[in-house]
Parts: sequence; C-alpha cells; structure tokens
Amino acid sequence: MSLEGEDVEGSAGASVEAAPARSPIEIDVLTLFPGMFAGPLAESIPGRVQSRGLATVRVHDLRQWGLGRHKTVDDYTYGGGAGMVLRPEPVAAALDAVRRPGSTVILPDPGGEVFGQARAHDLALRPHIVILCPRYEGVDERIRSLVDVELSIGDYVLSGGEIPAMVMIDTILRLLPGAIDAESTAEESFTTGLLEYPQFTRPPEFAGMTVPTVLTGGNHEAVRKWRLKEALRRTLRRRPDLLEGRAPTKEETKLLAEVRAEEAAENAAAESSVGAERSPTEE
Ligand code: ADE
Repeated sequence: MSLEGEDVEGSAGASVEAAPARSPIEIDVLTLFPGMFAGPLAESIPGRVQSRGLATVRVHDLRQWGLGRHKTVDDYTYGGGAGMVLRPEPVAAALDAVRRPGSTVILPDPGGEVFGQARAHDLALRPHIVILCPRYEGVDERIRSLVDVELSIGDYVLSGGEIPAMVMIDTILRLLPGAIDAESTAEESFTTGLLEYPQFTRPPEFAGMTVPTVLTGGNHEAVRKWRLKEALRRTLRRRPDLLEGRAPTKEETKLLAEVRAEEAAENAAAESSVGAERSPTEE
C-alpha cells in the first residue's frame, strides 16, 4: 500500500494510475449544515481526488428550499412526540433541482442497508450521487419514496446524516481510478474479502520486536504467500464471519489449513503452560 502525500509517492516511485477517460463522478449533498463538510473533504485523498478533476462534490444548504419567510424545513410530528421532523416539500424541491436521469439518491439512515465495501464499489461506478442528510428526529415517512437507497454506517445513532455522508463520500472517492495506487485498493481489507496482512517499515527492530525475515529477503513469491497466509490468519482470528461468506481458492484452502493447525498448536502450548504454572491445589 502506498503512503499518502505527493512527496512520499514521488520518492517511492509508487505508480499512481493515469486518470482514465471517464467523466468525473458528481456528488451533490443536501444538508442543513454545509460547513461540516469543508474540512474532511478538502484534505488528503478526497481533496486530491477533487483537485485532480476525478470528482466534483457540491454541498447545498437545504434551507434554501425551505418554506415561507422563515425557510422552514421541519415541523412537529403528527400524533405527538418529542423532536422535529424534516418536511417532505423542501426535500422534494431540492431533489427536483439537483436530480437528473441516472442519479442515485441516498438517504443515510440507521435503519438502512449496512454500507459496506461492495456497495462503495457499486456507487463508485455511478455517474451522479445525491446524498440527503436528515437532521432533527427524523424524516417524514413520505421522503423515503423519493430516494433510491437508505444506507446505515453501523448500529449506532449519530446526530444527523452528515457524518455518514462524509464516510460514504470518502470511501467512494478513494476507489475512483487514479485516486490512489490501484494495487492498494485491490489488496485492502474487504475488497479481497479478507482483513489486511500485517505491514512493517523501518526500523528493523523496535522495542524488541523484529520484522519477519521473509519481508526483507527479496523473494517476491515468498512475500506474496506470507501476506496471503497472514491475511487469512488475521481474518480467522478477528472476523471469522468473513470467511464463511467467501469461496476460497485452492491455495487459500491449503494455507488456511496450515493456519488452523498452527493456531491449534499455539493454543495447546498456551494451555499447557498455564497448567504448568498452576499449583497442584488449584488443579
Ligand atoms: N443517521 C444517524 N445515525 C446513522 C447511521 N448509523 N447511519 C446512517 N445514518 C445515520
């Protein structure tokens, strides 16, 4: 994986793909807090993707489509209850203004489909994305009929859709061809269906911990195999659920069997050393 920053890329000679001939992806965000987006989208990879012309992100203040003199966008919930609800008319007017044939309209919502890497790859291929960020206690139910997909970034509740929108935008922008070293996105966690293998940089020894010798030996095939095996080991330890939904290659099946045998031997050794430490009365 290449490191961020022009100087690092330049000095390491990492290949950043030339931008292919596709129109830049366009993203329109509808929010009551446009100021929230400035920092996260201006810096690092999202900023660079935009300055390279691979993506255009426009952030609109939803209140400009608000109703009446006060530009009202919310109201009390019918039937009573705490909190204000986003009205449908300002949202419909905003969508009329920004949506076009081929647009994908997203509503961040904790009850939506869980946003994952596969959905991010899918969205990165779309020409135009609109993200409607709800605030207040929620949205008038009829707004859901105006959107194409509701997406959740996890089982917790944020104060609004802005941070989920930024999470989605960041994830999508870094997948665009030319955004970063293509090898990085191909190999990273979730794209391969495995967690990422451990990585090391200088120094060769830190706090008594050394770098695996295979990584400094110059044998590319051995490095590739070690990385695959360690990715399998890490996935097995931390996210075994990922292995269940995935058809392994022949090589992966063999390496996984080795990992399982090594893990079993390690566990047995750990247990026998705990047993040896116990006093006879504890047994
Ligand atoms: N709005 C509030 N919480 C959210 C979540 N977890 N995902 C998407 N949108 C949200």
